Amino acid sequence: MHTKIKYLACVSLFLSASAALCAVDLTKAYDMPDATKLIEKDLMPGATEFTMPKSCDLTDAQAIARGNFMFNNLNGKKAKGKLPKGLAKFVEKTGKDGKVKKKPKQYGNCVACHDIEGAKGAGNIGPSLTGYKAMFLDTKVRDAQFVYQKIADPRVDNANTHMTVNLTTGLFNEQEICDYTAYVMADKSKK
Ligand code: HEC
Repeated sequence: MHTKIKYLACVSLFLSASAALCAVDLTKAYDMPDATKLIEKDLMPGATEFTMPKSCDLTDAQAIARGNFMFNNLNGKKAKGKLPKGLAKFVEKTGKDGKVKKKPKQYGNCVACHDIEGAKGAGNIGPSLTGYKAMFLDTKVRDAQFVYQKIADPRVDNANTHMTVNLTTGLFNEQEICDYTAYVMADKSKK
């Protein structure tokens, strides 16, 4: 009996000692670099408003063709069909080693989420954009500025959107957002 009490006392002493040990601030025992700056750098900037540039020619057949191509393709390497004028299949990027490399140009692949006239294997995460002109533009429910802003940064209109952010992130430039806008808004009913 006596030894048992002695044993228990010993165990509890050990436990409380190790608990005290665990409470010791171990952050100083090894290197803990502050990653806040790194994480902040990778965060996406907040929802940003854009005004459609005056240079945006929504009736330009070449802009519509580029928008069509980028809407329906993932990148320049996988893209099929004739490349529209003013669009590249590959872009040059400087790697970490300072060497310039040719990389396939990324396109919007909007078809992964949106159905549209003539689309193949369209997804349904976003609304169908088929008949967009008749349904949304002719009825004045939407206008060019709305479509441009939606493609540039959809979060301005819908904070919880599942759509990709294209201009704020630098994925695409103003001209390319114009091209997408021109294609979405174009009358495709007669094709
Ligand atoms: C990951 C899925 C996804 C991708 C990729 C995507 N979208 Fe969307 N899109 C959505 C969703 C979801 C909505 C509806 C919510 C919203 O309006 O933000 C939407 C809404 C829109 C609308 C507004 C329709 C309306 O009038 O209400 C347009 C226009 C549009 N997308 C065009 C595009 C274009 C152009 C691209 C390619 C550059 C694209 N989307 C890529 C998911 C996507």
